Amino acid sequence: MEKTEVLLKNPVRHNRPLLDCLNGFAGDKIPFWFMRQAGRYLPEYRAIRQKEKNFIQLCLNPDLASEITLQPIRRFDMDGAILFSDILIVPHVLGQRVDFIESLGPRLEPIRSLQDLQRLNLDRLADGFNPIYQTVKQTCEGLANSKTMIGFCGGIWTVASYMIEGQSSKNYETIKRLCYLDSPFITALFTILIEASYHYLCGQIKAGCQVIQIFESWAGQMDDHNFKNYILKPTEILINRLKSSHPEIPIIWFPKNASESYLHSGLKLNIQAIGLDSTVNQATSRQLQKDYVVQGYLDPIYLLIDAKTIESATRRIIEPLRLDSKNNSRYIFNLGHGILPNSPVENVEFLVNLLKKL
Ligand code: CP3
Repeated sequence: MEKTEVLLKNPVRHNRPLLDCLNGFAGDKIPFWFMRQAGRYLPEYRAIRQKEKNFIQLCLNPDLASEITLQPIRRFDMDGAILFSDILIVPHVLGQRVDFIESLGPRLEPIRSLQDLQRLNLDRLADGFNPIYQTVKQTCEGLANSKTMIGFCGGIWTVASYMIEGQSSKNYETIKRLCYLDSPFITALFTILIEASYHYLCGQIKAGCQVIQIFESWAGQMDDHNFKNYILKPTEILINRLKSSHPEIPIIWFPKNASESYLHSGLKLNIQAIGLDSTVNQATSRQLQKDYVVQGYLDPIYLLIDAKTIESATRRIIEPLRLDSKNNSRYIFNLGHGILPNSPVENVEFLVNLLKKL
């Protein structure tokens, strides 16, 4: 049994391979889960989606959301179950209008000034998040003891970008302008989002989540100066708060397209693992593995191709990472981003069977 220096203070072995790996205990297999493992590539998800056409209502329905969370585990037996919800539940519960429109994605009524912030209300959190905590409870009841329950939220910058731009953005013009002008509105919005995300994560942990992942999907958008000020700093505040109330909970941070910026930033977050996207350079991933468990990073496009191509790409990624430079297991397999809706289920199945053999 190997221990490593990314350890939490007094880690305990839980016989849950994913959680144990994050706590520095070696296992004989590489733990794995996939971002967006519950979703449209699964026929059983599409069947439930037919019954509930409103995506927000689906996220807020504990019976359906816990069933969806468990669907991929039943089929593929991953090591981790990720709560079925969305990063945009936070603005929804705060009081911003959020709609998911088929084939267009999310649409939000933009919030762009101090006055707009009056539409948000932190008092709604306690009641608003309750159905999601109920989903976590119900999911945990249906999970085997060897599985790890993963909770999540979006990174502050990523969620703020949706709230301000009102949709997935091409160039982040509005939020960048506000950041570059050091707008007090940005500081005020970030303060609200840190507060809401902190409460949301604490509630998920109380309900049974054993690991937290923070999705900073649009981290790769900023120069060094602004990356530090508007991405790392709010993340650091959120993480330090969570660590002081829940030191035992490992945190995975997924700074998409920004692991190099992070490596060179000189700042170190109090996280156990870093999620790597598909563009990460192998030397960078090895370097990060000195400080953290690394998670990633098969390009989800491979799942659209065929077994042979999936196998060679998977082996190529795993080989240099399965043991770190001191021969410790500090690696969790995942994709570099979410599974695409047009991924053939048999390709996902092939990948899972391969991972179980490796
Ligand atoms: O990973 C999982 O299986 C857990 C559930 C989960 C969803 N979204 C479900 C979902 C998680 C962890 C997320 C995170 C999320 N949501 C992120 C961060 C990760 C990433 O992908 O970068 C972001 C940026 C969002 C915002 C979001 N939600 C967008 C842009 C969209 C539309 C794009 C799309 O794929 O349709 C969503 C919708 C969404 N979230 C779906 C699912 C299963 C599809 C909804 C449907 O039509 O059924």
